[in-house]
Amino acid sequence: MLLDRIKPLDAILATAEKKSLHRSLGAVQLTLLGIGSVIGTGIFVLTASGAQKAGPGLMLAFIIAGLICIVAALCYAEIASMIPVAGSAYTYSYASVGELLAWTVGWALIMEYAIAAAAVSVGWSGYFTGTILNGFLGIELPAWLAAGPLAFGGAEGGLINLPALVIALLVTGLLIVGTSESAKVNAVLVAIKIAALLAFIALTFTSPEFSAEKFNPFLPAGVFGGFGTGVGAVGAAATIFFAYVGFDSVSTAAEETKNPQRNVPIGLIGSLLICTVFYIVVAAGAVGTLGGQPIMGPNGVPFAAGSAELARQCAMPEHAGALVCSDEALAHVLREIGFSGIGNMLGIAAFLALPSVILVLLYGQTRIFFVMSRDGLLPERLSTVHPKFKTPYIVTAITGVGVAIAAAFFPVGQLADISNAGTLYAFMWVAIALLVLRKKDAGRHRHFRVPAAWLVAPLTIAGCMFLFFNLPAQAMLFLPIWGAIGLVIYFGYSRRASHLGRGLVEVHEAEIGEIEPDIPGVSDRGRP
Ligand code: ALA
Repeated sequence: MLLDRIKPLDAILATAEKKSLHRSLGAVQLTLLGIGSVIGTGIFVLTASGAQKAGPGLMLAFIIAGLICIVAALCYAEIASMIPVAGSAYTYSYASVGELLAWTVGWALIMEYAIAAAAVSVGWSGYFTGTILNGFLGIELPAWLAAGPLAFGGAEGGLINLPALVIALLVTGLLIVGTSESAKVNAVLVAIKIAALLAFIALTFTSPEFSAEKFNPFLPAGVFGGFGTGVGAVGAAATIFFAYVGFDSVSTAAEETKNPQRNVPIGLIGSLLICTVFYIVVAAGAVGTLGGQPIMGPNGVPFAAGSAELARQCAMPEHAGALVCSDEALAHVLREIGFSGIGNMLGIAAFLALPSVILVLLYGQTRIFFVMSRDGLLPERLSTVHPKFKTPYIVTAITGVGVAIAAAFFPVGQLADISNAGTLYAFMWVAIALLVLRKKDAGRHRHFRVPAAWLVAPLTIAGCMFLFFNLPAQAMLFLPIWGAIGLVIYFGYSRRASHLGRGLVEVHEAEIGEIEPDIPGVSDRGRP
């Protein structure tokens, strides 16, 4: 039977206990980890693509995507408080719907975390090239070094995105050196990011440029732009959903958290609520001052964000200064409404802070690989922990190189859409896992219980499917193609190597008392 390998929850908790990572994070650090992961390229960069898809209705897009994330976060919070181990949606699925589906979720999480990390690296590159190199140092990076050559629908002139490649590798090095140092750096950068957004809100809302007329027409591309087009308010919601991606990385850090039953729900829901409010207000500030009308094609449909055609339109004088044409959306708004100096400072803030987003996303990815290899589905050697730094350094290095390559060759918007496709799939399974566990393991203590779970979880499932089917066609297609590659690996390697399949799980439980918990990830532990 294909779906019969369901990992017993007690075994998951026992295994984690034995090969555990060091528990060092508290509620505040965890909320900061959430915000550090969430506020990033989505608001600082993709605001422009969102406006190109929805016009001023971008605000509505933030609300739609935010609501879906809040119901998903509630599901995450319940399961994370019940299964406070690393691995997120992958681990939850393993305990509820079994190994095969859990593998597909773990595989989709690679799309979520690794590809998102690549997207943010490219977003950072826009601010680095525009604000730092060009603005401050007067250096014009040749076009072939500033953008990747690959894009669905034709890219504009790049060969490699060198800054994106370099930042991804630098952040990987920081992660290898260690979590607690990284978390401290993260806290400072979160403060910088929040300060930048607060300044943006204050300046746009008090600007004489701000007017209600700029919100008209509110939905120039309609609510639904058509299947596969990715435009309209819901098309924009499917893209801008990226701005919320990452809050679940809080749950992937559960195994490194003190008192996870209390702190994980606080971290998840707290960080998400804070970010949702910021996004809606920032979008209103941007549209209210600079306006956010899309550039329409001859058929009355907005040109695709990130397309070569849109780039050509943006080069025309009549579109000079348009929000939808900028690679540095928020800094650009401030510069256009007369605050060049503060716009440049916001650019510096993004330059400094976006790497913290890459860091948290990469961190989430490595911890998921760590757990999958601990389960035997990936080679166990990957989960080896560095003797000095206490981090899973092999898997971190491999992930970092993969992310750097993706960042070097693809544009930000398309990476974000692909990441969203994987994320929506994973979120959907978290909601399903919640319902399955409510039935199967009703008696187990849940420190946090989703109110009206039988309404919230189906809403999450429906919401995720709704956004998925409003992504551009290429991003939607990526999921089954990536999934098929994953299944080949599963049936070629993982199914046979699986600890659960080889009957090693019970042994873990029996030996639990004999293990020194502070020697994590040693690969021969738990063998019969
Ligand atoms: N939500 C994160 C961002 O917007 C991934 O950069």
